[in-house]
Amino acid sequence: MRADELLQALLRDERLDAGEAEMLLAHVCGRARSWVRAHDDAELAPEICMAMRALAARRAAGEPFAYVVGSAGFYGREFLVDARVLVPRPETEHLIDDARAFLRERAAPRIADIGTGSGAIACTLAAEIAQAQVDAVDLSGDALDVARENAARLGVADRVHLFRGDLLQPLAGRRYDAILANLPYVPTAAISAAPDPVSFEPRLALDGGPDGLACYRRLLVAAPDALAPHGALYLEAAPPLMEGLRALVAERMPGAEVRVEHDYGGRERFVRIVPR
Ligand SMILES: C[S@@+](CC[C@H](N)C(=O)[O-])C[C@H]1O[C@@H](n2cnc3c(N)ncnc32)[C@H](O)[C@@H]1O
Repeated sequence: MRADELLQALLRDERLDAGEAEMLLAHVCGRARSWVRAHDDAELAPEICMAMRALAARRAAGEPFAYVVGSAGFYGREFLVDARVLVPRPETEHLIDDARAFLRERAAPRIADIGTGSGAIACTLAAEIAQAQVDAVDLSGDALDVARENAARLGVADRVHLFRGDLLQPLAGRRYDAILANLPYVPTAAISAAPDPVSFEPRLALDGGPDGLACYRRLLVAAPDALAPHGALYLEAAPPLMEGLRALVAERMPGAEVRVEHDYGGRERFVRIVPR
């Protein structure tokens, strides 16, 4: 079958988005998307057509595109992702920008990433800051397997140390120049059902309890003692939760300097807290 015929068939039968169909074909053929564009008359081998149809059906059922192709871009790097981890979101890249700027005068910063998932935050900071030492924690052993593979592929495994456990518990007694946490913050009742792509992501990565703030409520108990002098705590959440998160921080860390930062879409996305 010709490439353009197959793509048309998938747009019609599976209602795939045209861009995604092209990217899927590039993935299956092991080629760049530009190659697919330039070769729409290419005759495709039957096994390529079969593989395309299988992946297209998964996507049509709602599975995130990143799971279907097995990777997601984050801060200019490719991360392996599958159903064991949350797909890293572009909004989280802003947290990286802010933390890099905050840490720029420290030669060898110590960083903790709580709820590391794919390792997107931990590996990115290790890759961007040459001397950084990063401790990354997750409750899920499956997620840590993915993070370990990403750290190895990105050449930062010697500076990203993985711990399995609850929040800051495995890091007791250590102090950090920056602690970053993108913990589950979807209120339980708001977790999407299939076929929403989010419903394919691990519940442990999404469920933030009745008000979405259960993990942050507990993290804020231990976090002040885990920060080095002049260290910063970063917490990411969804815009509707920021008011509640701000109030929680004011209660748990009174007197701290708290800045609410926006993502590139202009929505409130994370808080940076520096105890005074
Ligand atoms: C929203 S995902 C974020 C993943 C990654 N940091 C990112 O930004 O793409 C939250 C992660 O926190 C982990 N997690 C949930 N509860 C936790 C807990 N109590 N302690 C440590 N990790 C936890 C989940 O397994 C999941 O990998």
